[in-house]
Amino acid sequence: MANNEELFKKIISHSKEYGFIFPSSEIYDGLSAVYDYGQYGVELKNNIKNYWWKAMVQFNENIVGIDTAIFMHPTIWKASGHVDAFSDPLIDNKDSKKRYRADVLVEEHVAKIEDKIRKEVEKAAKRFGDAFDEQQFVGTNARVVEYQTKIDAINKRLNQSLEANDLADVKKLIEELEIVCPVSGSRNWTEVRQFNLMFSTQMGSVSEDANQIYLRPETAQGIFVNYLNVQKSGRMKIPFGIAQIGKAFRNEIVARQFIFRMREFEQMEMQYFVKPGEELQWFEYWKDLRLKWHYSLGLPKNKYRIHNHEKLAHYANAACDIEFEFPFGFKELEGIHSRTDFDLNAHQKFSGKKLQFFDPETNESYVPYVVETSIGVDRMFLAILSYAYNEEVLEDGSTRVVLSILPVLAPIKAAILPLMKKDGLPEKAREIMDVLKYDFLCQYDEKDAIGRRYRRQDAIGTPYCITVDHQTLQDNTVTIRERDTMKQERIAIDKIAAIVEDKISFKKAFTQ
Ligand code: GAP
Repeated sequence: MANNEELFKKIISHSKEYGFIFPSSEIYDGLSAVYDYGQYGVELKNNIKNYWWKAMVQFNENIVGIDTAIFMHPTIWKASGHVDAFSDPLIDNKDSKKRYRADVLVEEHVAKIEDKIRKEVEKAAKRFGDAFDEQQFVGTNARVVEYQTKIDAINKRLNQSLEANDLADVKKLIEELEIVCPVSGSRNWTEVRQFNLMFSTQMGSVSEDANQIYLRPETAQGIFVNYLNVQKSGRMKIPFGIAQIGKAFRNEIVARQFIFRMREFEQMEMQYFVKPGEELQWFEYWKDLRLKWHYSLGLPKNKYRIHNHEKLAHYANAACDIEFEFPFGFKELEGIHSRTDFDLNAHQKFSGKKLQFFDPETNESYVPYVVETSIGVDRMFLAILSYAYNEEVLEDGSTRVVLSILPVLAPIKAAILPLMKKDGLPEKAREIMDVLKYDFLCQYDEKDAIGRRYRRQDAIGTPYCITVDHQTLQDNTVTIRERDTMKQERIAIDKIAAIVEDKISFKKAFTQ
């Protein structure tokens, strides 16, 4: 298998070639960090959303789903803190006119020093062979210790300046480290300034009446401002949850790594409203449950790790990320946050409306605490794709690309293939398709040799290929070929539906 960078490039080109993901506005040379989902991409994406929705809403009696508008009252973003604090420090290079995140420039500089350490370790490991003790080497080798001291000092200074919002010092640090623009190669930098990540637009047709509104940067606030509507109309008792799937928008400065960091993306969020004092218990509960959900997707456990936040946002009293090993390393896939009563309190204050829960057992009213689970649909899509993409060398020496996607998530569940385009085989195949299509998504394909058709279905992750041949006309049997093993079996037509249904069963995926 190719190295990770090569693998990542292959995944990106496979996504385009097979109709999963296209660069947005491609015939106009694209729009940076914006992507379109193609005919198979949209199916996989919908299946991921459905898998989450079933797990969160359908399988939990006390969680309900909503769908709130992208446009919201602008004061919501003042209350949530996004107007004042949802920003990244940016810096421009005056020669290339390229814009960078100042903290990322420093982090990339640190990564280069880390690389030097790695090289020293590799060299020493070769020199000492089996007797090599990496821990001892890293702790005692003069050059490595010097590199590590440098890294620690840089990280400390960056954190301190960012925390104190001392942007002049961040610029000074960039200058002292002699960081150059990767495009122009120059050190001709502007000042560092905070850049708010929210997109804004105007509401109202007459410019004098125009009211600046924002495209939501997270779906969570739509849940918070509807807390009371849902609680009252659904007669919900604490603890209960509200879930939502929807688009979010962020004007990311550093937008790369394909669909990992986009400017328009989709989130699946759930806010769980709990009694104050019980939030840390529920935080652990959701951490555990969300990990189980991930494991049920068939990706290996060692591809996941938990990163507990040491430094917490001012509104949180516990937070962690579920990280996934993407081809470019372990990165955040989902966030789980104990957000206290920060958001509901802020909305009470800014709206002047009470957002409380009356507990009939204790006769007390209180503002609930919230535990949030928040995952990006697109990142989950990328995680699944990066693990599922496999190049296999077959026994006859040929190769095939197969997407080993969990069958319940696969875009097409079964392909119906007449062996030849004559002798009534296409008609028989369509007859079968007309029965199966009501239960799951099938695809009819009669073009090219059967082997090539199998490869096309492997490349989009179709769990089953059903081939209709001359024997079918005589005894109503077909061959069914399984994607991963490539094994073929002769079965009666009326058994197809049950076999496929069993393979794509939600229940099986969740409970196995
Ligand atoms: N309501 C909490 C919240 O929005 P976040 O950590 O900023 O928290 C949650 O985002 C998740 O949304 C992330 O774990 C990630 O999966 C996804 N996400 C965030 N920014 C993204 C972007 N620019 N592109 C794609 N996904 C993104």
